[in-house]
Amino acid sequence: MLIRPRRLRDNSLIRNLIHETHLSLENLIQPYFLTGNRNAQELIQGFSGVYRWGIDALKKQVEQDLEKGVKSFLLFGASEVKDKDGVGSRSKNSEDLLAQAILSLKKTFGDGILLFSDVCLCPYTNHGHCGVIKEGRVDNDSSLMPLAEMALAHAEAGVDFVAPSDMMDGRIAFIRNVLDEKGFTQTGILAYSAKYASSYYGPFREALGSSPQVTDLPRLKDRATYQMDFRNSSEALRELRLDIEEGADLVMVKPALAYLDIIASFRSQSQVPVVAYSVSAEFEMVKALVAKGMADEKSMVIENLTAIRRAGAHLIVTYFATELAQKGWLK
Ligand code: PBG
Ligand code: ZN
Repeated sequence: MLIRPRRLRDNSLIRNLIHETHLSLENLIQPYFLTGNRNAQELIQGFSGVYRWGIDALKKQVEQDLEKGVKSFLLFGASEVKDKDGVGSRSKNSEDLLAQAILSLKKTFGDGILLFSDVCLCPYTNHGHCGVIKEGRVDNDSSLMPLAEMALAHAEAGVDFVAPSDMMDGRIAFIRNVLDEKGFTQTGILAYSAKYASSYYGPFREALGSSPQVTDLPRLKDRATYQMDFRNSSEALRELRLDIEEGADLVMVKPALAYLDIIASFRSQSQVPVVAYSVSAEFEMVKALVAKGMADEKSMVIENLTAIRRAGAHLIVTYFATELAQKGWLK
């Protein structure tokens, strides 16, 4: 036989020598959820081993993460029902939990950490939508200023990158202009460019209490009028092109595992680094199998994350980052 591919698989030394795809903690971003009580660490129902963190408790956690090699974090806010309103006013308040957490983490760790902050109105609106509602629709243009004001509050608190996840048209340029006008030319933007309307966000919405609350109006019962339709792929490239033209520093595909084709086409078309968000239900599916004794957690997580990297993601947002680091499963 002239050609024997198995020669290159014969032992681990040769396999490790030639493997194409590399996975490292350096390329992972760990999401964290916040809660008002400074020392709290509350387990989230239906989200295995994932917590809501009070600011002081989070500082201790981040200190351990840094020691183990996780250095990038994506922070999500939350607001109490009494603070929610139709336009998500709380989101731009410098006293808001998320702005305060940014301030406090940056004060403690400075340039030793990279902080990304989710910019979206859904945790702050009483209707649970990512933008402002007008005449039965999530109104694009009146959502832009509140989003930019939220981004500005995070920039003022010292965040490295704001990450708008709302999917309004034109928000990257709008936010970029507001940040620049106020002198925040160094604050970056990670754009959720292709964010699909997906069934994979369940545990996350439980964590934030951010599900859409309107049931009787067809345009408001879910997020389908702003998040993408999973039947489409060229539309994702259109969103990619727009976000790059509007000044995005990093672009994201979300979810990840069911969207590897989109990640691959982003990689071939994008002039900026590509981020993939492996979302809450992707995490929970692995945890569910492991709990049933039907999968080895380490092997499955490494396989999934490697597949996302192989598809073309430079960076991955994953709830497994700190666990991989703490258990020494990944360096
Ligand atoms: C909200 C937002 C969602 C996620 C990140 N930001 C959910 C949604 O669109 O309802 C999902 C993250 C996850 O499931 O891990 N703008
Ligand atoms: Zn949202």
